[in-house]
Amino acid sequence: MKQVNYKTIFNDIFLELKPIEKKGAPASYIPELCNVDPDKLGIHLSNVDGEHFYQGDSEERFSIQSISKVFSLALAIRVIGQKLWTRVGVEPSGSAFNSLVQLEHEEGIPRNPFINAGAIVVCDVLITYLQDPKQELLDFIRKVADNPALQYKQSVAESEMMTGDRNKALIYLMRDFGNIHNDVEQVLDLYFYLCSIEMNCRELARSFMFLATHGMDQSSGEMIVSPSQAKRINTVMQLCGFYDEAGEFSFKVGLPGKSGVGGGIVALHPGKYTVAVWSPRLNGKGNSYMGMKVLELLTTKTEDSIF
Ligand code: DON
Repeated sequence: MKQVNYKTIFNDIFLELKPIEKKGAPASYIPELCNVDPDKLGIHLSNVDGEHFYQGDSEERFSIQSISKVFSLALAIRVIGQKLWTRVGVEPSGSAFNSLVQLEHEEGIPRNPFINAGAIVVCDVLITYLQDPKQELLDFIRKVADNPALQYKQSVAESEMMTGDRNKALIYLMRDFGNIHNDVEQVLDLYFYLCSIEMNCRELARSFMFLATHGMDQSSGEMIVSPSQAKRINTVMQLCGFYDEAGEFSFKVGLPGKSGVGGGIVALHPGKYTVAVWSPRLNGKGNSYMGMKVLELLTTKTEDSIF
Protein backbone atom coordinates (compact mmCIF):
# COMPACT_ATOMS: atom_id res chain seq x y z
CA MET A 1 0.00 0.00 0.00
CA LYS A 2 1.27 3.50 -0.89
CA GLN A 3 2.55 5.23 2.28
CA VAL A 4 0.50 8.34 2.95
CA ASN A 5 1.42 10.92 5.57
CA TYR A 6 -2.10 11.47 6.88
CA LYS A 7 -0.93 13.65 9.76
CA THR A 8 0.54 16.24 7.37
CA ILE A 9 -2.49 15.96 5.08
CA PHE A 10 -4.92 16.56 7.98
CA ASN A 11 -2.87 19.58 9.08
CA ASP A 12 -2.95 21.02 5.57
CA ILE A 13 -6.69 20.38 5.21
CA PHE A 14 -7.55 22.05 8.53
CA LEU A 15 -5.45 25.09 7.59
CA GLU A 16 -6.92 25.30 4.10
CA LEU A 17 -10.50 25.20 5.41
CA LYS A 18 -10.00 27.80 8.17
CA PRO A 19 -11.52 30.64 6.07
CA ILE A 20 -14.84 28.78 5.72
CA GLU A 21 -15.10 27.39 9.26
CA LYS A 22 -18.16 29.51 10.11
CA LYS A 23 -20.24 28.42 7.11
CA GLY A 24 -23.51 26.59 7.77
CA ALA A 25 -25.43 26.06 11.00
CA PRO A 26 -26.22 23.12 13.32
CA ALA A 27 -29.58 21.36 12.89
CA SER A 28 -32.23 23.40 14.72
CA TYR A 29 -35.29 21.23 14.08
CA ILE A 30 -34.07 18.89 16.84
CA PRO A 31 -33.64 21.39 19.73
CA GLU A 32 -31.19 19.18 21.67
CA LEU A 33 -28.73 19.20 18.77
CA CYS A 34 -28.23 22.94 19.25
CA ASN A 35 -26.57 22.31 22.63
CA VAL A 36 -23.23 21.70 20.99
CA ASP A 37 -20.32 23.98 20.13
CA PRO A 38 -20.82 24.52 16.36
CA ASP A 39 -17.10 25.09 15.82
CA LYS A 40 -16.00 21.56 16.68
CA LEU A 41 -13.97 19.82 14.00
CA GLY A 42 -12.47 16.35 14.29
CA ILE A 43 -11.28 13.54 12.04
CA HIS A 44 -10.13 9.97 12.68
CA LEU A 45 -8.91 7.56 10.01
CA SER A 46 -8.29 3.88 10.81
CA ASN A 47 -6.71 1.60 8.25
CA VAL A 48 -7.26 -2.14 7.88
CA ASP A 49 -3.75 -2.75 9.28
CA GLY A 50 -4.79 -1.22 12.61
CA GLU A 51 -3.06 2.16 12.23
CA HIS A 52 -4.79 5.35 13.40
CA PHE A 53 -4.49 8.97 12.32
CA TYR A 54 -6.49 11.81 13.85
CA GLN A 55 -6.75 15.55 14.34
CA GLY A 56 -8.92 18.04 16.23
CA ASP A 57 -11.97 17.09 18.31
CA SER A 58 -11.87 13.43 17.33
CA GLU A 59 -12.37 12.09 20.87
CA GLU A 60 -15.55 14.02 21.68
CA ARG A 61 -18.80 12.12 21.39
CA PHE A 62 -21.72 13.55 19.40
CA SER A 63 -25.15 12.44 18.19
CA ILE A 64 -24.51 10.22 15.19
CA GLN A 65 -28.13 10.52 13.98
CA SER A 66 -28.68 9.03 10.50
CA ILE A 67 -25.26 7.38 10.46
CA SER A 68 -26.94 4.77 12.70
CA LYS A 69 -29.17 3.79 9.80
CA VAL A 70 -26.27 1.78 8.40
CA PHE A 71 -26.27 -0.34 11.58
CA SER A 72 -30.05 -0.90 11.53
CA LEU A 73 -29.79 -1.87 7.86
CA ALA A 74 -26.93 -4.32 8.53
CA LEU A 75 -28.86 -5.89 11.42
CA ALA A 76 -32.07 -6.21 9.38
CA ILE A 77 -30.11 -7.86 6.56
CA ARG A 78 -28.63 -10.30 9.07
CA VAL A 79 -32.08 -11.07 10.42
CA ILE A 80 -34.23 -11.38 7.28
CA GLY A 81 -31.78 -11.20 4.34
CA GLN A 82 -33.21 -10.60 0.88
CA LYS A 83 -36.79 -10.33 2.12
CA LEU A 84 -36.00 -6.84 3.36
CA TRP A 85 -36.06 -5.54 -0.21
CA THR A 86 -39.79 -6.17 -0.58
CA ARG A 87 -40.37 -3.47 2.07
CA VAL A 88 -37.81 -0.85 1.02
CA GLY A 89 -35.97 -0.04 -2.24
CA VAL A 90 -32.33 0.59 -3.17
CA GLU A 91 -32.70 3.62 -5.43
CA PRO A 92 -31.47 7.15 -4.71
CA SER A 93 -34.39 9.36 -3.74
CA GLY A 94 -33.15 12.65 -5.20
CA SER A 95 -35.19 14.35 -2.50
CA ALA A 96 -34.71 15.48 1.08
CA PHE A 97 -34.22 12.88 3.83
CA ASN A 98 -37.60 13.67 5.39
CA SER A 99 -39.66 14.27 2.23
CA LEU A 100 -43.26 12.99 2.06
CA VAL A 101 -43.85 13.56 -1.63
CA GLN A 102 -42.36 10.39 -3.17
CA LEU A 103 -43.98 8.10 -0.62
CA GLU A 104 -47.47 8.95 -1.79
CA HIS A 105 -46.60 8.24 -5.44
CA GLU A 106 -44.75 5.05 -4.59
CA GLU A 107 -47.46 3.65 -2.36
CA GLY A 108 -45.64 3.64 0.94
CA ILE A 109 -42.46 1.82 -0.20
CA PRO A 110 -39.52 4.12 0.65
CA ARG A 111 -36.87 4.52 -2.05
CA ASN A 112 -34.03 3.36 0.21
CA PRO A 113 -33.20 2.44 3.85
CA PHE A 114 -31.40 5.74 4.59
CA ILE A 115 -34.13 8.31 4.03
CA ASN A 116 -36.17 8.66 7.22
CA ALA A 117 -39.13 6.67 5.84
CA GLY A 118 -36.82 3.79 4.87
CA ALA A 119 -35.11 3.68 8.26
CA ILE A 120 -38.53 3.72 9.96
CA VAL A 121 -39.58 0.66 7.91
CA VAL A 122 -36.31 -1.07 8.87
CA CYS A 123 -37.15 -0.38 12.55
CA ASP A 124 -40.61 -1.88 11.97
CA VAL A 125 -38.95 -5.04 10.56
CA LEU A 126 -36.61 -5.27 13.57
CA ILE A 127 -39.57 -5.04 15.95
CA THR A 128 -41.31 -7.89 14.11
CA TYR A 129 -38.31 -10.20 14.26
CA LEU A 130 -36.44 -9.34 17.47
CA GLN A 131 -37.47 -10.16 21.04
CA ASP A 132 -35.94 -7.03 22.58
CA PRO A 133 -35.30 -4.70 19.61
CA LYS A 134 -33.74 -1.76 21.50
CA GLN A 135 -31.31 -3.91 23.45
CA GLU A 136 -30.44 -6.14 20.47
CA LEU A 137 -29.85 -3.12 18.25
CA LEU A 138 -27.60 -1.51 20.86
CA ASP A 139 -25.78 -4.83 21.37
CA PHE A 140 -25.21 -5.10 17.63
CA ILE A 141 -23.79 -1.56 17.46
CA ARG A 142 -21.55 -2.28 20.46
CA LYS A 143 -20.37 -5.46 18.77
CA VAL A 144 -19.40 -3.84 15.45
CA ALA A 145 -17.79 -0.98 17.37
CA ASP A 146 -16.03 -3.46 19.68
CA ASN A 147 -17.10 -1.18 22.52
CA PRO A 148 -19.56 -2.24 25.25
CA ALA A 149 -19.69 1.31 26.64
CA LEU A 150 -21.61 2.91 23.76
CA GLN A 151 -24.93 4.48 24.70
CA TYR A 152 -27.89 6.36 23.33
CA LYS A 153 -28.83 9.82 24.63
CA GLN A 154 -32.26 10.00 26.16
CA SER A 155 -32.60 13.78 25.96
CA VAL A 156 -31.97 13.70 22.19
CA ALA A 157 -34.45 10.85 21.64
CA GLU A 158 -37.06 12.72 23.70
CA SER A 159 -36.37 15.98 21.88
CA GLU A 160 -37.08 14.18 18.58
CA MET A 161 -40.23 12.52 19.86
CA MET A 162 -41.55 15.98 20.87
CA THR A 163 -40.72 17.70 17.60
CA GLY A 164 -40.80 14.84 15.06
CA ASP A 165 -44.05 15.71 13.29
CA ARG A 166 -42.59 14.92 9.89
CA ASN A 167 -41.50 11.44 10.93
CA LYS A 168 -44.96 10.91 12.40
CA ALA A 169 -46.52 11.97 9.10
CA LEU A 170 -44.22 9.54 7.23
CA ILE A 171 -45.08 6.58 9.43
CA TYR A 172 -48.85 7.17 9.31
CA LEU A 173 -48.72 7.47 5.53
CA MET A 174 -46.80 4.19 5.27
CA ARG A 175 -49.17 2.49 7.70
CA ASP A 176 -52.06 3.51 5.48
CA PHE A 177 -50.31 1.71 2.59
CA GLY A 178 -49.80 -1.41 4.74
CA ASN A 179 -46.01 -1.04 5.08
CA ILE A 180 -45.93 -0.62 8.88
CA HIS A 181 -46.89 -3.77 10.79
CA ASN A 182 -46.32 -2.77 14.41
CA ASP A 183 -47.53 -0.14 16.84
CA VAL A 184 -46.60 3.31 15.50
CA GLU A 185 -45.39 4.62 18.89
CA GLN A 186 -43.14 1.59 19.39
CA VAL A 187 -41.61 1.93 15.92
CA LEU A 188 -40.96 5.66 16.38
CA ASP A 189 -39.50 4.99 19.82
CA LEU A 190 -36.99 2.55 18.29
CA TYR A 191 -36.25 4.93 15.41
CA PHE A 192 -35.51 7.91 17.71
CA TYR A 193 -33.45 5.65 19.99
CA LEU A 194 -31.39 4.56 16.96
CA CYS A 195 -30.82 8.18 15.90
CA SER A 196 -29.70 9.26 19.38
CA ILE A 197 -26.69 6.91 19.64
CA GLU A 198 -23.50 8.83 20.48
CA MET A 199 -19.96 8.13 19.32
CA ASN A 200 -16.74 10.01 18.66
CA CYS A 201 -14.83 9.91 15.37
CA ARG A 202 -12.54 7.08 16.51
CA GLU A 203 -15.46 4.95 17.60
CA LEU A 204 -17.32 5.63 14.36
CA ALA A 205 -14.32 4.70 12.24
CA ARG A 206 -14.02 1.42 14.19
CA SER A 207 -17.71 0.61 13.91
CA PHE A 208 -17.65 0.87 10.10
CA MET A 209 -14.52 -1.25 9.72
CA PHE A 210 -16.49 -4.44 8.94
CA LEU A 211 -17.68 -2.73 5.74
CA ALA A 212 -14.08 -2.07 4.69
CA THR A 213 -13.10 -5.70 5.33
CA HIS A 214 -15.77 -7.52 3.29
CA GLY A 215 -18.04 -8.04 6.30
CA MET A 216 -15.47 -9.42 8.74
CA ASP A 217 -14.83 -8.00 12.20
CA GLN A 218 -11.29 -6.62 12.42
CA SER A 219 -10.42 -8.08 15.84
CA SER A 220 -12.46 -11.27 16.21
CA GLY A 221 -12.53 -12.37 12.56
CA GLU A 222 -16.26 -13.05 12.94
CA MET A 223 -18.41 -12.42 9.85
CA ILE A 224 -20.78 -9.55 10.72
CA VAL A 225 -22.36 -9.75 7.25
CA SER A 226 -21.32 -11.77 4.20
CA PRO A 227 -18.98 -10.21 1.59
CA SER A 228 -21.95 -9.90 -0.76
CA GLN A 229 -24.05 -8.17 1.88
CA ALA A 230 -21.15 -5.79 2.66
CA LYS A 231 -20.94 -4.98 -1.06
CA ARG A 232 -24.63 -4.17 -1.11
CA ILE A 233 -24.57 -1.98 2.01
CA ASN A 234 -21.62 -0.05 0.58
CA THR A 235 -23.44 0.35 -2.73
CA VAL A 236 -26.54 1.75 -1.03
CA MET A 237 -24.28 4.16 0.90
CA GLN A 238 -22.64 5.27 -2.33
CA LEU A 239 -25.99 5.89 -4.01
CA CYS A 240 -28.15 7.09 -1.12
CA GLY A 241 -25.97 8.01 1.87
CA PHE A 242 -26.34 11.76 1.32
CA TYR A 243 -29.95 11.92 0.11
CA ASP A 244 -30.35 14.65 -2.52
CA GLU A 245 -26.63 15.37 -2.26
CA ALA A 246 -25.49 11.77 -2.94
CA GLY A 247 -24.34 12.66 -6.44
CA GLU A 248 -22.37 15.64 -5.14
CA PHE A 249 -20.65 13.56 -2.44
CA SER A 250 -19.76 10.79 -4.92
CA PHE A 251 -18.59 13.35 -7.47
CA LYS A 252 -16.33 15.19 -5.02
CA VAL A 253 -15.20 12.44 -2.63
CA GLY A 254 -15.50 9.18 -4.56
CA LEU A 255 -16.13 6.92 -1.55
CA PRO A 256 -19.26 5.33 -0.06
CA GLY A 257 -20.31 7.32 2.99
CA LYS A 258 -23.11 8.20 5.37
CA SER A 259 -23.99 11.49 7.00
CA GLY A 260 -26.05 12.52 10.02
CA VAL A 261 -27.62 15.81 11.10
CA GLY A 262 -25.38 15.79 14.18
CA GLY A 263 -22.64 16.86 11.72
CA GLY A 264 -20.91 13.48 11.45
CA ILE A 265 -19.85 11.74 8.25
CA VAL A 266 -18.29 8.30 7.89
CA ALA A 267 -16.74 7.17 4.61
CA LEU A 268 -14.73 4.10 3.72
CA HIS A 269 -12.34 2.75 1.17
CA PRO A 270 -12.98 -1.00 0.91
CA GLY A 271 -9.79 -2.95 1.65
CA LYS A 272 -8.02 0.20 2.89
CA TYR A 273 -9.58 2.40 5.56
CA THR A 274 -12.56 3.97 7.30
CA VAL A 275 -12.67 7.67 8.15
CA ALA A 276 -15.03 9.69 10.35
CA VAL A 277 -15.32 13.48 10.37
CA TRP A 278 -17.37 15.70 12.66
CA SER A 279 -18.31 19.34 12.24
CA PRO A 280 -21.83 20.32 13.42
CA ARG A 281 -22.51 23.13 10.95
CA LEU A 282 -24.69 21.75 8.15
CA ASN A 283 -25.29 22.85 4.59
CA GLY A 284 -28.75 23.36 3.09
CA LYS A 285 -29.15 19.63 2.41
CA GLY A 286 -28.57 18.66 6.06
CA ASN A 287 -25.02 17.33 5.60
CA SER A 288 -21.93 18.63 7.42
CA TYR A 289 -20.59 21.60 5.48
CA MET A 290 -16.96 21.21 6.56
CA GLY A 291 -17.19 17.42 6.77
CA MET A 292 -17.90 17.16 3.05
CA LYS A 293 -15.01 19.55 2.26
CA VAL A 294 -12.56 17.70 4.52
CA LEU A 295 -13.28 14.40 2.75
CA GLU A 296 -13.13 16.01 -0.68
CA LEU A 297 -9.68 17.37 0.13
CA LEU A 298 -8.59 14.03 1.64
CA THR A 299 -9.28 11.99 -1.51
CA THR A 300 -8.01 14.80 -3.74
CA LYS A 301 -4.70 15.23 -1.90
CA THR A 302 -4.09 11.48 -1.56
CA GLU A 303 -5.26 10.90 -5.15
CA ASP A 304 -6.99 7.82 -3.84
CA SER A 305 -10.68 7.05 -4.09
CA ILE A 306 -12.58 3.97 -5.27
CA PHE A 307 -12.73 5.41 -8.80
O1 DON B 1 -35.29 11.75 11.87
C1 DON B 1 -34.52 12.71 11.70
O2 DON B 1 -34.83 13.70 11.06
C2 DON B 1 -33.15 12.63 12.34
N1 DON B 1 -33.20 11.85 13.53
C3 DON B 1 -32.14 12.01 11.42
C4 DON B 1 -31.94 12.77 10.12
C5 DON B 1 -30.54 12.74 9.62
O3 DON B 1 -29.60 12.55 10.34
C6 DON B 1 -30.35 13.10 8.19
N2 DON B 1 -28.94 13.14 7.83
N3 DON B 1 -28.24 13.93 7.35
